Amino acid sequence: MSESTVIDQLLAELGTGIVQLPSEFGTRQLHDWSGVPGETPVALIRPRTTEDVATALRICHAHAQPVVTQGGLTGLVGGANALGGEVALSLERMNRIVEIDRTSATMTVEAGVPLQAVQEAALDAGFYFPLDLGARGSCTIGGNLATNAGGNRVIKYGMMRDQVLGLEAVFANGEVASGMHKMIKNNSGYDLRHLLIGSEGTLGVITRAVLRLRPRPTAVATAWCALPDYDAVTTLLTCAQAELPAGVSAFEVMWAGYYDAVLANLPELRAPVGGRYPYYVLLESVGSDAGPHAAMFEAFLGRMLEEGVVVDAALAQSEADAIAFWTIRDAPGEYQKFIPHHSAFDVSFSISDVGEVAARCERGLLEKWPDALVMIYGHLGDGNLHIVVDIPGTEGRLHDEIDRVVYEVTQEFHGSVSAEHGIGVKKKAFLGHTRTRIEIAAMHQIKAALDPRGILNPGKIF
Ligand code: FAD
Ligand code: LAC
Ligand code: ZN
Repeated sequence: MSESTVIDQLLAELGTGIVQLPSEFGTRQLHDWSGVPGETPVALIRPRTTEDVATALRICHAHAQPVVTQGGLTGLVGGANALGGEVALSLERMNRIVEIDRTSATMTVEAGVPLQAVQEAALDAGFYFPLDLGARGSCTIGGNLATNAGGNRVIKYGMMRDQVLGLEAVFANGEVASGMHKMIKNNSGYDLRHLLIGSEGTLGVITRAVLRLRPRPTAVATAWCALPDYDAVTTLLTCAQAELPAGVSAFEVMWAGYYDAVLANLPELRAPVGGRYPYYVLLESVGSDAGPHAAMFEAFLGRMLEEGVVVDAALAQSEADAIAFWTIRDAPGEYQKFIPHHSAFDVSFSISDVGEVAARCERGLLEKWPDALVMIYGHLGDGNLHIVVDIPGTEGRLHDEIDRVVYEVTQEFHGSVSAEHGIGVKKKAFLGHTRTRIEIAAMHQIKAALDPRGILNPGKIF
């Protein structure tokens, strides 16, 4: 059946308030943050309810019409981009917080709600929603679920997968799979929730979720640490995990190349310590009982300084200090200002390998391109490195060659080509570096079972 017939039927059943044609959404952003170009979708559907989503998918399924689901478009792998011929389904109007259940410590939300709105609502209600990442103001809970987002507090609270008790999704044929449970334990057969989490819009459209809330921390201690070598970085991590009574809630490592480049290019940033060091760590511990918590954190930091593990440090004396430290770590949101054509990697390894992997990648890149800017940083507690490379004057023409250098090392150390951003289109060629042929074949079988006509986000992941 022709494209116009599908659109006619979508318009007839959902109306012009929900279905728009390209002439009506012309200036809208059509691509995510990956730099992968996005095609104009043949129509834009902005449902208000799960029933609207179900209607849209039932019609698209009947016509074998491809659909790309869009959240906040902050993805870094091109997953939410149309590749040509898709209808785009945006969850932006399904952005309500439906309920906070204080006894069960849950928040029920629609999938289009921004992450930051969930964080703020949790705090207002005396709870904590720990998932946090630089795109918090724009990314949505549906996108966080579809990518199984990680971010800054995985080390203590886990990834998005660990923050969800229940899920509602619409399958490709328009059937609604509702598992909006609030219980922590539920071993009644296969856990479809975990199949949908991280499926990048290829197995279903996530419409609602029951999020798990944590107790609101009443004490936050944050320090900016300068370290002399990589062994000191892993020593600090091990000691902090063993000795800080409330544990470690963030351990964000920045190599000197990252720190120097963001401070040189973003005048709003302030150096927390004087001098220049090979490594910097943003260390955070959240807990309760502010007095003892702060004293124990300070004593720990003092010991690390005495032992020479940390060579200089700044302890946040106020929330403003902590925000200033985090602003340096959140600088990737500003890359467009000074390296718009960069290559970016999101790789993971066993923590014991990370130091050598980083050194090997940096060396390999600089041997080939001596004037390359190589910025390495990441969520070290999770073995997750981000490597950002910019070669002046090449305007992105060397992406493939740069990929080869980094992924060769990734393969050699049995790492993952995607720790937290997903595969989308950008990492597709490298899926086989991390997953076996049998694993990928199983993924194809699952896809075929849940989406037999292949309409959901075709061309993504594999
Ligand atoms: P989109 O970009 O709109 O979509 C992402 C994928 O999910 C696409 O495949 C899309 O089809 C699918 N999708 C979206 N909504 C749904 C839905 N309701 N149902 C089914 N599929 C859906 N990520 C991290 O993990 N950790 C970080 O630390 C981190 N930091 C970032 C910092 C910056 C400055 C930026 C720009 C991005 C960062 N990201 C990070 C990446 C990005 O923010 C996450 O991947 C986020 O989860 C994407 O959410 P979104 O709503 O923007 O999704
Ligand atoms: C970060 C994103 C890029 O950690 O994942 O900054
Ligand atoms: Zn990250």
